[in-house]
Amino acid sequence: MGYAIEVNNVIKKFKRGSGLKKREIVAVNNATFEINEGEIFGLLGPNGAGKTTLVRCIATLLIPDSGTIKIMGKDVLKYPLFCRRQIGLLTSGERTLYWKLSAKDNLKFFAALYGLDKKETEKRIDYLMELLGLKEVQNERVEKYSSGMKQKVSLARALIHDPKVLLLDEPTLGLDPQFARFLRDFIKNVLNRQERKTILLTTHYMDEADELCSRIAFINQGRIVDCKTPEEYKRDLPHSEVLEIKTTLITNAKELEENLSKIPTIEKVNITTQNTITHFKIILPRAEQVLSDVISEVQKYAKILAIDVNEPTLEDVFIYITGRRLTEDTKEELELE
Ligand SMILES: Nc1ncnc2c1ncn2[C@@H]1O[C@H](COP(=O)(O)OP(=O)(O)O)[C@@H](O)[C@H]1O
Ligand SMILES: [Mg+2]
Repeated sequence: MGYAIEVNNVIKKFKRGSGLKKREIVAVNNATFEINEGEIFGLLGPNGAGKTTLVRCIATLLIPDSGTIKIMGKDVLKYPLFCRRQIGLLTSGERTLYWKLSAKDNLKFFAALYGLDKKETEKRIDYLMELLGLKEVQNERVEKYSSGMKQKVSLARALIHDPKVLLLDEPTLGLDPQFARFLRDFIKNVLNRQERKTILLTTHYMDEADELCSRIAFINQGRIVDCKTPEEYKRDLPHSEVLEIKTTLITNAKELEENLSKIPTIEKVNITTQNTITHFKIILPRAEQVLSDVISEVQKYAKILAIDVNEPTLEDVFIYITGRRLTEDTKEELELE
């Protein structure tokens, strides 16, 4: 089997502002990876990392500044119609449906855009409404639906022409946990296992990527920093424990971070503050060895509220490689120097 998607040295820049303040942002910085036919491939990175830009390039909605993208072996810029026929796109948040129309009429409209005939359209709509549990409400206006049901109709829209490749851009973002669960199971069991679709899934939820993906590319500030299986990531982390500490608010966290980094065997320190709590993640071989040193150092700055020692997760691997958390937004660091 070949590659479903090939991304080769793709660069995409955006211009920001105007006049003297005009700046260039490198949203995707020389991305290269291949997705095998039939796999669920994860693109994992924090907000602003470049995930959506990359997906939009693959979906032919944006043209890269340089580099090439192939879908099922064909260049997206040379064969746009062929490539669009191969892919279904699901994004989160964006309004991709006509709210005054019913689910069924929405799907008829999008089926017509793909040139499906009447019989085929009816068959696909029946199948998808049944599969997604929307049969009962298919003739009601989309505006009356809950956000979970709207997302189901958007998914049906992405599937209407029975594409071989699915691009799912943060599909569970903002959904309630129960519906997110349904969607994850549906992606894995129905779309991938039964229907054998190739899936590119972007997410900033580490556990979602861990659960669904056969391989994961970490993306940070537009760059693909690593690409392998979840097991390989965990195995390659050369440290076996994560010491987590919660304290009262620390204002000069940078100084403390530097002091902690000097303690022997400590590999990585990541400090974040939420409301009035400061949260530490310290990656190291054995927490027990340095616990008393760490505690006395931290106590110079704040009161300790909780201490925990855990096994590393995929999130810790991300911190180890990039120094940042998946929940941290990418700040304006993407500009060309
Ligand atoms: N249309 C645009 N114009 C200008 N900047 C953009 C545009 N789209 C995205 N960006 C910038 O490109 C970077 C990557 O954004 P995006 O691809 O949306 O990241 P992600 O999907 O990982 O959150 C961000 O800095 C974002 O602000
Ligand atoms: Mg995005």
